Formats: sequence, structure tokens, C-alpha cells
Amino acid sequence: MKNVRNLLAGVVLMSTCMLFSQSAFAQKPAGKPWPAPESAVKMKNPVKPDAGNLKEGKDLYAQHCKSCHGAKGKGDGSKAAKIDISCGDFSTPEFAKVSDGELYWKTTEGRKPMPSYKEKLSDTERWKVINYMRTL
Ligand code: HEC
Repeated sequence: MKNVRNLLAGVVLMSTCMLFSQSAFAQKPAGKPWPAPESAVKMKNPVKPDAGNLKEGKDLYAQHCKSCHGAKGKGDGSKAAKIDISCGDFSTPEFAKVSDGELYWKTTEGRKPMPSYKEKLSDTERWKVINYMRTL
């Protein structure tokens, strides 16, 4: 009887570990370094955030970015599980130091598996999404 119980405990423990290793809790490796050109880093955000355009930014984020980057920007969206590198975390102090221009450039260009938003969003829409990301 004791053996059976030990066996059961082992199975439960193993399944829990397997579940965790596949969940968003498991840290994925960051992608290769992705430096933005100096001119892009220095670009100024022409959109001043206010309640109205932040709401637009939020809606655009929900529509285009949330599936990977997650509702709170933690990189835990529903599609993130199928991506083998980290989508990053928009809520860290390191992220806060990245310039708007750099985020704008990365959003515009994309890099597989992250799509390019050059055609999908207008310039102004991309700046609005950046402003919204700052609130996460
Ligand atoms: C299909 C999943 C996917 C979608 C959709 C997506 N991203 Fe990404 N994003 C990624 C991945 C993966 C990375 C990391 C790329 C790398 O390191 O090569 C990334 C990286 C980024 C970065 C760079 C982060 C950093 O710290 O340098 C920014 C900025 C970004 N995404 C913004 C956006 C915005 C804004 C949207 C929506 C308009 C969006 N992403 C939609 C997957 C996605």
C-alpha cells in the first residue's frame, strides 16, 4: 500500500513539474541583441500622452500586441507559449530606460517572430501604442 502511495506522489510531483516548465513561469532565453540605429534611438515622440490617446493606444495594444506581450506587458500572452524566445517584459526598470524612439523603431521594423507594424499601423498609432506601453 505504501509503495502505491509513494508511486502516486511521484507521479503527481512529476506532472506538476512538467506543467510548470511549459507555463509562462518558465524563463525563456532572450533573443539575440537587437540594437536600434542611433538615429532611431534619438527620435522624439511627437504624441503627448493624454486620456484620449492613451485609450486609443490601449485598444491598439489589445488588438495587435497583447496576444504575445500579455495584458500587462509581461510577455505572457496566449501566443507567447509557442514562441521559443522571451517576448520581453515591459514592466521592468530596464525597459523604462529604453527610449521611445528605440521602441518605436522596433515596433515599426519587427524581428521574427515579432511582426513589423510598418504597414499595419500608422506612424501616429505606433507612437500612441508606445505611450500606452509606458503605463504598464
Ligand atoms: C507574434 C508575437 C508578437 C506580437 C503580436 C508582437 N510582438 Fe513585440 N516582440 C515579440 C518577441 C518574440 C520579441 C522579442 C524579439 C527579439 O528579441 O528578437 C518582441 C519584442 C518587442 C519589442 C522590443 C522589446 C525590447 O525590450 O527591446 C518591442 C518594443 C515590441 N516587441 C513591441 C510590440 C508592439 C508595440 C506590438 C504590437 C503593435 C508587438 N510587439 C507585437 C513578439 C511579438
